[in-house]
Amino acid sequence: MKIYVYGVYSDEVPYIKEWQNEHPEVTVATTTELLNEKSAELSKGSNGVVVFQQKPYPDDALRQLAANGITKMSLRNVGVDNINHKLATELGFQITNVPVYSPAAIAEFSVTQALNLLRRTKEFYLKLGKGDYNWAPHIAKEMNKQIVGIVGTGNIGSTAAKIFAGFGAKVIAYSRHKNPELDGIVEYVELKELYKQSTIISLYLPHVPATDKMINRKTFSMMKDGVLLINTARGPLVDEDALIDALDTGKVGGAALDVLTGETKIFNQQINENEIDYPEFKSLVKRPNVLITPHIAFYTDQAIKNMVKMSLSANLDLITTGTSDKLVKF
Ligand code: COI
Repeated sequence: MKIYVYGVYSDEVPYIKEWQNEHPEVTVATTTELLNEKSAELSKGSNGVVVFQQKPYPDDALRQLAANGITKMSLRNVGVDNINHKLATELGFQITNVPVYSPAAIAEFSVTQALNLLRRTKEFYLKLGKGDYNWAPHIAKEMNKQIVGIVGTGNIGSTAAKIFAGFGAKVIAYSRHKNPELDGIVEYVELKELYKQSTIISLYLPHVPATDKMINRKTFSMMKDGVLLINTARGPLVDEDALIDALDTGKVGGAALDVLTGETKIFNQQINENEIDYPEFKSLVKRPNVLITPHIAFYTDQAIKNMVKMSLSANLDLITTGTSDKLVKF
């Protein structure tokens, strides 16, 4: 039995080896290459593939895998928005993801960035670089005085809600499914009410047609002046042009963006600033009250270990039993 693993990062290697030692019956072959039309050929003869990439999985790569008889594909991450669901279904793919690899990794990072915005750390670092050690006028705000609006209380949003509450913030939330674990911690409200009341808004939703650009000119107009926006979910949830205008007018007091609509052009690679063809990014990144990070909220040792080992086990389940508890239902 053979599983082929695409897009392997150095941090993942020890966990792949660990899993391999625990499953001597399986041959695990790896490549650093992402899955694309060309590299699809590398896995020929394997029973399944394990993949991880932010870039879209090209349709022709899926076709090539299917032509080679490989339709068992396991993602090492949670998001499935970079796969052509219709085509994958037509080609008979069974796809698994790792829905819960470490909610704390992402939740803790979003709270970190909210604190960084409140304490204005980027502004102080920038001043320091110019030899300016003055306090004023960058006075901070305290988390325990904030009203935090959590949009989406799945695993990550719920973990974040508990951490924000631990800091003494009032936490309100909007979610299609209410999480009983948050009773007494969070007050559920309608989305409009959340926009109206929150001093910090943090997003924890997937990118689907209904959430595309859900944060836009209209929703900004409902928010408090100076609201802080945290996005560790998916870039396209936010209309970036509307955000730029809202930052210009002061409607938004600061933003922490770990994800961007056009992030695959720039994140997780070495790139010369002059080569970046992404005006919205260029406008956002230079601002003292905007914190941009390259999709790293998930990136912890605990998360990587779980992503690797859980996805390999899910792929093995697909191969040996024809199903998995991590099967994605498109
Ligand atoms: C996910 O698990 O979907 C993430 O957002 C991690 C990412 C680097 C693909």
